[in-house]
Amino acid sequence: MAQFGGKKVGQMVLGFGGSGLGQALAAVAAVLLLRLFSGPGPALLPDTELTDHDDDGDDAIEDKGETPVGGNVIPVTIRWRNITCSLSDKSSKSVRFLLNNVSGEAKPGRLLAIMGPSGSGKTTLLNVLAGQLSASPRLSLSGLLEFNGNPSPYKAYKIAYVRQEDLFFSQLTVRETLSLAAELQLPEISSSEARLEYVNSLLFKLGLVSCADTNVGDAKVRGISGGEKKRLSVACELIASPSVIFADEPTTGLDAFQAEKVMETLRQLAQDGHTVICSIHQPRGSVYAKFDDIVLLTEGALVYAGPAHDEPLTYFSNFGYHCPDHENPAEFLADLISIDYSSAESVYSSQKRVDALVESFSHQSSLVLYATPITLREIPKNSTRFSRKSRVQKKGGWWRQFWLLLRRAWMQASRDGSTNKVRARMSIASALIFGSVFWRMGRSQTSIQDRMGLLQVAAINTAMAALTKTVGVFPKERAIVNREHAKGSYTLGPYLLSKLLAEIPIGAAFPLMFGAVLYPMARLHPALSRFGKFCGIVTMESFTASAMGLTVGAMVPTTEAAMAVGPSLMTVFLVFGGYYVNAKNTPIIFRWIPQASLIRWAFQGLCINEFRGLQFDHQNSFDIEDGEQALERISFGGSHIKETVVAQSRILLFWYCVAYLLMEKNKPKYQQLEAATLEQIQPAAVQLEPIIAEKVEKDQPNELVTPKQVELEQPLESPAIDQHPPFVLEGL
Ligand SMILES: Nc1ncnc2c1ncn2[C@@H]1O[C@H](COP(=O)(O)OP(=O)(O)OP(=O)(O)O)[C@@H](O)[C@H]1O
Ligand SMILES: [Mg+2]
Repeated sequence: MAQFGGKKVGQMVLGFGGSGLGQALAAVAAVLLLRLFSGPGPALLPDTELTDHDDDGDDAIEDKGETPVGGNVIPVTIRWRNITCSLSDKSSKSVRFLLNNVSGEAKPGRLLAIMGPSGSGKTTLLNVLAGQLSASPRLSLSGLLEFNGNPSPYKAYKIAYVRQEDLFFSQLTVRETLSLAAELQLPEISSSEARLEYVNSLLFKLGLVSCADTNVGDAKVRGISGGEKKRLSVACELIASPSVIFADEPTTGLDAFQAEKVMETLRQLAQDGHTVICSIHQPRGSVYAKFDDIVLLTEGALVYAGPAHDEPLTYFSNFGYHCPDHENPAEFLADLISIDYSSAESVYSSQKRVDALVESFSHQSSLVLYATPITLREIPKNSTRFSRKSRVQKKGGWWRQFWLLLRRAWMQASRDGSTNKVRARMSIASALIFGSVFWRMGRSQTSIQDRMGLLQVAAINTAMAALTKTVGVFPKERAIVNREHAKGSYTLGPYLLSKLLAEIPIGAAFPLMFGAVLYPMARLHPALSRFGKFCGIVTMESFTASAMGLTVGAMVPTTEAAMAVGPSLMTVFLVFGGYYVNAKNTPIIFRWIPQASLIRWAFQGLCINEFRGLQFDHQNSFDIEDGEQALERISFGGSHIKETVVAQSRILLFWYCVAYLLMEKNKPKYQQLEAATLEQIQPAAVQLEPIIAEKVEKDQPNELVTPKQVELEQPLESPAIDQHPPFVLEGL
């Protein structure tokens, strides 16, 4: 073995590289290859793409508990009028309307579904109502929106927004997830019994009792089912007893059974007094039956808004569009308001039908929706008592947030066995490869370069391992943190500090394993204190690289982008890592880079630790006699390990501060709703008679086309599709 490692491999590598640099490069290449083939990187969070379609019997919703969750709910009536959202395109000088004069109403105790074909503006409308439409200079948003007659509702009333993708910490159980969320959002519940009772009532209400102690899970480790995840999302949102619940496509990715359970949950919440608004694409019949009201949108315009069930069918039958018996009304409505892109003729006829329906409803809407003026206040007498209660609760103190987040971060980091196993295997495998390449280095003159090469690759390997782990995981975690931070559950200071501290024991374990295997194999400086310092320096470097990974993760939008940016940035620090370019020969404009390079400081610390006090065999007068001389050659003479540790700490702090600032800066910003102009909000001056089929056929024979007519009538000339761009105004 000694011969294999010490001579043959050494000679072979020398043959390639001719020096310690060759050895270093060979070792780095071997480790990178190993990293490439050693399986997937860590993923701490659930893969939202993967949804579960299991229909296990345990999934059934338990009977609704009688205990009102979160106490009383303030009844909130939401009214919106003439909501117009347009997107301008500077290059083509056109404006596209994402929402065009949309009005409607949502009432407490009722479940309102926003339905329409894909791209019709359902999510946009939901975001506008929730006050969470992402701001963009290209967007302009106007209209009236009131909650109980209050035009600036988000401070006065609590709202919940259940997003399409469910994001959780994968290693926490359902109960722990809810319990931590309750502790963060409701610091006023101080007794653990009261909190437990509260969480239990939520679990009961959402039908999560049977999976309460199951891990949420992720793509690698199976956890709760997709439907349970969605209900957990609703439960997390319900913690603060919101008056209004928005849910964007809550059934997407779920099978019919799970979808129905989720919708049943939303219906029950509506019955409990919440105002529930959800967007949904094409529900099955039994789900449609749960809706109290519907809003039908097509290409950003209203086709119908009002009660669900038979009313829309009666309304459309006035125009000659009859829903066949036994057909799912939702499917009938979806077909009626969709543009059929199968041929130019079908586009023409369906576009004409949809335009006519939009036009008809634009006259109807003011009658149907606003029997009472929009400014009428409907705040119940006892609302003052509730409203103080309902306002967003004050966050818990800094330390309280810190301890809670520390607990959560520790649970996530320590329980993720599969990721930790991969990291441990990688650390040991890298150490074995480096140890074999630099097997039992002696005290010859050539061993000086070997030692430097080994210490350099050890510094690079440690930094890269910590960086790739962090950038692979953090962008997903950031999505959760952004949501919680935006909700006001905590501030970023305690979050970042808790993350750093929680990861110390586990993050330190891997560099320690690496050092414990490599040190004796390569026969580095034989003293226990030196071994301890070696491990300390690589551990410190590992944390600094993680902090840099956090910054990269906070800077770019996706994991893929972070994976591209992180290693590239690290390469710059690697070049100025102290081994390839001597600090004294660094061009002036680049002199700051070695100062900021965590690899350089780690390498410098490792070199001082290794060389100081070491004697080398020497025959010639120009040979290096001791470690001090070797350190002089690479410009590290006269410096101390302490300096390098201080420099590493400064870099670590710097990256944490940058990550903090980036996360603060990249907080989601929402588009402001501008007041609608007077002309826009005037009710229709002339009240139109309800349109009936015969009248329509007589008065507007070409305006409204029944599906049958569309099938029979072939337009003589099919106009090009682009002659019907109802939402693009050219020339602006
Ligand atoms: N910020 C934006 N920039 C550009 N286009 C946008 C923006 N927001 C929405 N859109 C466009 O507006 C249209 C409506 O989008 P929206 O997400 O509201 O549709 P949707 O009805 O929810 O569709 P789906 O059923 O597929 O979720 C889409 O064509 C979308 O591309
Ligand atoms: Mg959508």
